[in-house]
Amino acid sequence: MNTDQLVRTFLEYYQEHGHHRITGSTLIPPPGDPVLFTTSGMHPLTPYLEGRPHPLGRRLVNVQRCLRTTDLDEVGDLTHLTVFEMLGSWSLGDYEGPQSLDWGYRLLTDGFGVDPGRLHVTVFGGDEQVGPDTGSLELWEGLGVPVELTVEDNWWSNGPTGPCGPDSEIFLWTGDTPPESTPTGDDRWVEVWNHVMMRHRRLDDGSLVPLPQRNVDTGLGLERLSSLLQGRSSVFECDVFDPWRRLLPPLWPLDEPSLRLVGDHLRSAVVVIGDGVRPSNTGRGYVLRRLLRRVLTVLRRDDPGRGLGDLPEELLRHTLDHFRQELPPEVVRRVLIDEERRFDLLLERGRRVLSRPRFRGPLSEDDLHYLHDTHGLPRELVLDLRGA
Ligand code: SER
Repeated sequence: MNTDQLVRTFLEYYQEHGHHRITGSTLIPPPGDPVLFTTSGMHPLTPYLEGRPHPLGRRLVNVQRCLRTTDLDEVGDLTHLTVFEMLGSWSLGDYEGPQSLDWGYRLLTDGFGVDPGRLHVTVFGGDEQVGPDTGSLELWEGLGVPVELTVEDNWWSNGPTGPCGPDSEIFLWTGDTPPESTPTGDDRWVEVWNHVMMRHRRLDDGSLVPLPQRNVDTGLGLERLSSLLQGRSSVFECDVFDPWRRLLPPLWPLDEPSLRLVGDHLRSAVVVIGDGVRPSNTGRGYVLRRLLRRVLTVLRRDDPGRGLGDLPEELLRHTLDHFRQELPPEVVRRVLIDEERRFDLLLERGRRVLSRPRFRGPLSEDDLHYLHDTHGLPRELVLDLRGA
């Protein structure tokens, strides 16, 4: 099943169960929202989870692009991407958690063909504020799926305050041997789908109050499930990356981890630019700048002649089309090239500053901080320049 088929199957399944499809938002949260980027499908729906009636009803489904800055350092491993898509379903004060889990289980096994023997789930075991999630526990026991109870790992929130609740996470076994251990005991269990019983609100003082309605918010990482269903060992090998894996290596021969980083960061940068962000020294623009500088650092390590202007148009177009963004590819290319120029100037400055007598010996942590804060020289770049 390719990624498009997976999306269609998901949407149709939920539509058959009375859900209305809503259009996903961009990566840019509404003004006044404290987060930099949309981090999950529920994020743009916060007012409706808090009780405002949604014009399309109480059952919703969508595909939402997300960016989690907290995951940036994980990118390059087998399961994390910078920009990823999340398939989501919601009950806005309608059906309860066990119903959501039951539908989820059936879609995974009957719809996507996942072997039930490769599933494990986790359920909230209870803490001093909220009791154990017995509804989810009983549902899973009834379906014969092994359950692990945890506390912190099964509590979901989008920030320190706001809507939150216990969750039940569904894991898929990715090992070559028969499944063993539990999700917290073996990282060959990979989380694919989270069902949050979103019925509390955390206040500034840490206390919890009930939301006006009992919601369910689910999120399924599209590229992650897609790669697992396609029998690929990493998210970078699912079909959405096919054009990148075909066109990047002839242009820039890279080792596998570098290919992953460059492919992920450039694809993410295109989406972020397509949503209207431009490189800058603060906020969203700085995240974009960091992505591009990491790419350039990796590319230039082996060959200083490499440049983003060489990026095939097909990759820009494929990404913009996939995310239904209307920006012309030439505009994206111009942003990339301008940023590259700024980076080149920074490199020149870096070489000049590092040639000062003060920096001739080994660099201390203080030196690295100073070089970053005063001269805008990222640590990675300084260490690279020193190694050269
Ligand atoms: N909000 C939950 C998550 O992001 C489920 O969608 O995991």
